[in-house]
Amino acid sequence: MKILAYGVRDDERPYFKTWQAAHPEVTVSLTPAILDEHSVDEAAGCDGISILQTDPVGPAIFERLVKENVRAVSSRIVGADAMALDTAKKLGIKVTNVPAYSPAAIAEFTVSQLLQLLRNTRRFEAKIHAQDFRWAPDVSQELNQQTVGVIGTGRIGRAAIKIYRGFGAKVVAYDVYHNAELEKEGVYVDSLAELYQASTVITLHAPATKDDFHMLDQDAFAQMNDGVWIVNAGRGTLIDSQALITALDSGKVAGAALDTYEKELPIFNHDLRNQQIDDPTFNNLFARENVLMTPHIAFYTNVAVKNMVTVSLDHNLSLIQTGVSEDQVI
Ligand code: COI
Repeated sequence: MKILAYGVRDDERPYFKTWQAAHPEVTVSLTPAILDEHSVDEAAGCDGISILQTDPVGPAIFERLVKENVRAVSSRIVGADAMALDTAKKLGIKVTNVPAYSPAAIAEFTVSQLLQLLRNTRRFEAKIHAQDFRWAPDVSQELNQQTVGVIGTGRIGRAAIKIYRGFGAKVVAYDVYHNAELEKEGVYVDSLAELYQASTVITLHAPATKDDFHMLDQDAFAQMNDGVWIVNAGRGTLIDSQALITALDSGKVAGAALDTYEKELPIFNHDLRNQQIDDPTFNNLFARENVLMTPHIAFYTNVAVKNMVTVSLDHNLSLIQTGVSEDQVI
């Protein structure tokens, strides 16, 4: 059996090696190339592939995979929004993801970013660097005083709720699917409007779907409390970036921690040192002291990387051998 893993980084290689050693019946080949129209031919002769990317996997790529007789596709990430799943399904391709490689990794990161916003860390760093050791006027806020509105109560949202409660913050949540335990605890509000009105912090843990594109738009920001804090480590498309800029300008939004950005693909995880970034919206947000932009790194821990590789290969082998797997998206 042969599996080709696309988009492999050096920090993933040890985990591929360990998995390969435990599965001598499989040959796992690794390529740093992501799956696209140029690299898809490399899958010829393979039984399955593993991928890690938010770059699109469109209908044409799935068609090419089927021509090469590859019908087992295992993503090493949670989000499946970049894949043309309708086409894949029609072609009889099976696709898996890794929905729980480390919900804590993402939850911990979002809370730490919020703490940095609340404590004016960026502002103090700049002042301290310039040997300005005065306190005023950058008085901070406390997390225990916040009401955190959690949008999306899947594994990551629930992990975040646990941490926020540990800090003594009040939590309200919104999701179309209710978690039974949270339901019993009375955490859910009935509408986004209610969540916006109740929250001093809003954190996004929803997947990207057609329905939630630009969920936080001008109208949504208008319904929020003045001085609200926004955290997004879900998908960039959940926020209308222009509307966020307007809300930051007016003070409606006090600050934002953005680990995702709607046009992140040409920027995040690229070395752009000494290069002009040709995206005025990104540049506007990036220049602000009260906006913490990070390049989609909330997931990036040793635990998560190991699980992404190992679970994805387990799933791919299962698809190859039995035609089914845990965590099948289609
Ligand atoms: C996901 O798992 O969906 C992520 O956003 C992580 C990233 C490596 C793309």
